[in-house]
Amino acid sequence: MFALVSEEKSMTHHQQITHSRVLVTGGAGFIGSNLCETLLAQENEVVCLDNFSTGRYANINHLLANKKFTLIEGDICHAQDCQKALAGVDYVLHQAALGSVPRSIYDPMATTQVNVGGFVNILHASVRAKVKRFVYASSSSVYGDYPYLPKIEQHIGKPLSPYAISKYTNELYAQNFSELYGIQCIGLRYFNVYGKNQNPEGEYSAVIPRFISQLIRHQSPVINGDGKQSRDFTYIEDVVQANQLAITTKNENALNQIYNIAFNGQTTLIELYNTLIDLLTPLDSRIASVQPIFGTERKGDVRHSYASIEKARQLLGYQPRYSIKDGLEKTIQWYWENLK
Ligand SMILES: NC(=O)c1ccc[n+]([C@@H]2O[C@H](COP(=O)([O-])OP(=O)(O)OC[C@H]3O[C@@H](n4cnc5c(N)ncnc54)[C@H](O)[C@@H]3O)[C@@H](O)[C@H]2O)c1
Repeated sequence: MFALVSEEKSMTHHQQITHSRVLVTGGAGFIGSNLCETLLAQENEVVCLDNFSTGRYANINHLLANKKFTLIEGDICHAQDCQKALAGVDYVLHQAALGSVPRSIYDPMATTQVNVGGFVNILHASVRAKVKRFVYASSSSVYGDYPYLPKIEQHIGKPLSPYAISKYTNELYAQNFSELYGIQCIGLRYFNVYGKNQNPEGEYSAVIPRFISQLIRHQSPVINGDGKQSRDFTYIEDVVQANQLAITTKNENALNQIYNIAFNGQTTLIELYNTLIDLLTPLDSRIASVQPIFGTERKGDVRHSYASIEKARQLLGYQPRYSIKDGLEKTIQWYWENLK
């Protein structure tokens, strides 16, 4: 009994960053703002570097009054902004990027400038600032056309979009810089993250917030293709946990590695749609009768995405806590309160 309690406590202890100064790039975005909030609650100083290209003040307004929070409106592509943001920083959680596969197909240069040029810039600035560790967001899109499931870190296919190439390039630079300059890096391949603060609006919004906001307004969501494509949807709090573990791990073997961060579940878009209808109908019975529209398949999309999380489990102690249903319940509650 005692052993169990202390084990549980020490697990919680290890996965928290505390009394450190942490730079969160892209801190006004969906994942970044959730990281900022948790880090501040754990008594860290947080520097948020964001140029608000896709980030939103609404995500961080409530943090501005906190004396331990510093907002720097700047660009990861600008050396001076990076240098300023990195002053006195212990750890970097690098989230800033232009997300979205379709955006990268429409404007490959913009994606490449920010996701590759900006990445090298902030990584090199972090080397010069002698940070203790650099943890960065990679993506499941790196698996490209690799056909076998579940996806395992060392087996990747041909990338299917400029976005996927940009994220794979990040992994190559991180590995190279750790060898050249000795910086400790950890890459997290996120799989379709969802939860509070994710932007539901705009052409490049992600499927879960878009569907929820449309259903709340009784509009028909568009399912691209036949709806049988699947995703390993990952709740934001599990992603926050993974970042904390990556920063705090003392396991030498865990450093300079790349990890799948997912729930390890497979959900088709049709199943997602039906679950959303089931969860939203008790809040508004009219939602039950909203029918989806089936659109054309999207270019550049991976057909099935389902992660093995064994590596993160073994080397980092990662344990996702939110099934798709549990995560969606919390997410819907937040959108219901914030969109209505
Ligand atoms: N959300 C997901 O499902 C998912 C999946 C895989 C990978 N990722 C990666 O996770 C990271 C965070 O994604 P997100 O969903 O929070 O996206 P987001 O668009 O909400 O956040 C990205 C943030 O980066 C900022 N930014 C963009 N360009 C910048 C620049 N040049 N300088 C400074 N700030 C800049 C944006 O303003 C925004 O606040 C990204 O690197 C993304 O590629 C996300």
